[in-house]
Parts: sequence; structure tokens; C-alpha cells
Amino acid sequence: MPPILTVVIPCFNEAANVATMAERLDAALPGVAWEAIFVDDDSPDGTAAIARGLAARDSRIRCIRRIGRRGLASACIEGMLASSADYVAVIDGDLQHDESILPRMLAELQAGRADIAIGSRHVEGGGATEGFSSLRRRISDGGTAMAQALLPVKVADPMSGFFMLPRALFEATAPSLTGRGFKILLDILLSADRKLRVAEIPYSFRPRTAGESKLDTTVLLEFVALLLDKSLGGFLPLRFLSFAIVGAVGVLVHLVVLSIVIRFAPFVTAQWVATFVAMTVNFWLNNRITYRDVKLRGPALWRGLALFYVVCGFGAVANVGVASLLLVDDLVGWRWAGAAGALLTGVWNYAVSSTLVWRA
Ligand code: GDD
Ligand code: MN
Repeated sequence: MPPILTVVIPCFNEAANVATMAERLDAALPGVAWEAIFVDDDSPDGTAAIARGLAARDSRIRCIRRIGRRGLASACIEGMLASSADYVAVIDGDLQHDESILPRMLAELQAGRADIAIGSRHVEGGGATEGFSSLRRRISDGGTAMAQALLPVKVADPMSGFFMLPRALFEATAPSLTGRGFKILLDILLSADRKLRVAEIPYSFRPRTAGESKLDTTVLLEFVALLLDKSLGGFLPLRFLSFAIVGAVGVLVHLVVLSIVIRFAPFVTAQWVATFVAMTVNFWLNNRITYRDVKLRGPALWRGLALFYVVCGFGAVANVGVASLLLVDDLVGWRWAGAAGALLTGVWNYAVSSTLVWRA
């Protein structure tokens, strides 16, 4: 029987949880034709091999293994895009979400009472059994408030990563999704072209018993970036925004290094040193933040760094070239000439870095 429900399970280093997850789905969804798709980002602990082992024995289980890619949101998107069922759901692979509410979520959608069903910690009956640290709670509450301010509909738990919707609705929204960071549900709610009717089903967020959380500072930054991107109406691509901010940090680094080295070296030497330090810092930051999902490692990292120097070198030449052209013809004053050169360099560096260095 073809599945009517695809449950997408993003996994990174969840080898210890995969088998239990499959058993629990089986127990939670009697009488429902379901399939599960584990989406693994080539976890070093062999998550994919375990999922494939299950899949070899149970045709309801599938596994997508992505190589050279990372990211919770994009993993969920690719899992949902691989579905042919009427409904798609996303649930964490670490057993923290309560799979026993899946039938209720499905019932809400099938009865047409909602466009999207959300597993919620913040409605009557829901909660978190995990002792969140007070810092994490405050960050989580702050994020929830920020998200709610932007959302066109009332959602008590917009930060949830546990939800279900008709596949057709997901597919219609998919082209507008940023696919970055952790907050795939929020991305969907903000990207839909109409107000979605939401049904929140309470559940209690369980403590993690195996493996560890992948939430870190960069994930928080990506959350802020997602909100920014959506409130700007997607006018500036997120990656470009991140690249530009990193670039601004690079300028600061450059000035600081220059002001130190110039004390014991001639200007030209100091300028070279500052340029190299700034480019290296920029490369490192971009690799960690801007291109986190396609992060370079090992030998590819050094090749990327070398290429980045070359790209920025050309950018610098173009910068000076354009600025002096504008100046020579006396078209504009030096400020505008300088700004035009810098803008051109920024766009050039971004475009070429995105395609050649990181292949994003
Ligand atoms: N494929 C893939 N790639 N999976 C990932 C990645 C990744 O880069 N990062 C995390 N995951 C998987 C984890 O293996 C886990 O199954 C799930 O995504 C959630 O990651 P955690 O690191 O356990 O996140 P959390 O517990 O802090 O928060 C989760 O639960 C919250 C409450 O519903 C997230 O899903 C939040 O979005 C959610 O709000
Ligand atoms: Mn978790």
C-alpha cells in the first residue's frame, strides 16, 4: 500500500536512536500507511548505515544520505521533497518529540480543520520535561517573541521542529524557503503566500537520552538571519547579507592590524600584512558562518583558502581600476569613486566565492 504519510527524520549522529525511532513510529501509527525517511548528513557515527539496515528489512523505511552538506532545515526540505504521500511530517531523530501525537496531527489535517498541525510545548497540556538551562530558556523565549512579532498568524510554539502538513502545501511553499538554520517550521509559516490555519497539539518535549544537541551559537545567528531575510521580503539574499557583515568585520581587522604593524614597518609592508590577515579572517568566518552548510574541511580547506586569496586579489585590482577610471574622467568625487570600487569588489568577491570557492 503506498504511504499516505511520510515522516521525515533529520539525523546527525543519532545512530543510537534510529532503531527505537522506527519502533516507536510503528507503535504510534497503527492503521496508517506511513513511511519514514531518515535524512542523514553523512554522520561519522554511522547513522545512515543503521537506517539502511532497517530499510533493507522494512519497505516503509528509507534513508537519504547527503555528503558534504550540513543543515537541519535543508535536510527536512530534501526529505519532504522525496515524498509522494498526501501528508508530510517532520520529527527530530533524537526521540525528544512525542510521536504518539502524530495520529491527532493527521486527523486535524484530514478533517480539514487546519492547514498545518504543530506539536506544541506552549499550549495547554504541553511542556518540556527537560531542565533547560535558564540561559537557553531565555534565548528560546526571546526567539519565540521575535518570531511571533513577524508571524501573520498566532502560534504559541513557532520554534517547534515537529509538524505535519499536506505535501501539496509544502511543495507550493518550498521555492520560497531559505533552507538555512534550524527553524524550518518558522520558515514555512513565514514563506506561505497566505495565512495558514494552524492546529497546535500539545506534547511534552522529552530529555535527550542518547547523543548530543547540535544547537550552537551559529544556529542562533542563523535564526536572526532568517527573521531578517523574511522581514526584508527576501530582497537581499541571506548569504550576501552574511558575506557583507563578514566583510565589514574584515575591514575592522584590517585597520587594527595596520595600526599595529605600521609602528615597526613601512606602510606598504604593513598594508600587505593587514590585507593578508583580513582575508584569512574573512575566509575563516565565511567558512564557519556564510557557507556553513557547504563548509570546507581538510585538503579542500587549503585549496579554498588559496582560491579565496586569488579571488580577492582580482577583486582588489578591479576595485582600484574602477575607482581610478571614474576619477580620471572626473565623473565623480573620490568618495563616490571609492565607494563604487568597494561595492563592485564586494559583489565580485561574493559571486565568485559562492560559485568557485564554496560551490554553494
Ligand atoms: N540531517 C541533519 N543535519 N540533521 C541534523 C542536523 C544537520 O545538520 N543538525 C541537527 N540535526 C538533527 C538532530 O540529529 C536531531 O535529530 C534534530 O535534528 C534536532 O537537533 P538537536 O540538536 O537535537 O536540536 P534541539 O534538541 O536543540 O532542538 C530541536 O527541538 C526543538 C523543539 O521542538 C530542534 O528541532 C528545534 O528546531 C526544535 O525547536
Ligand atoms: Mn534534540
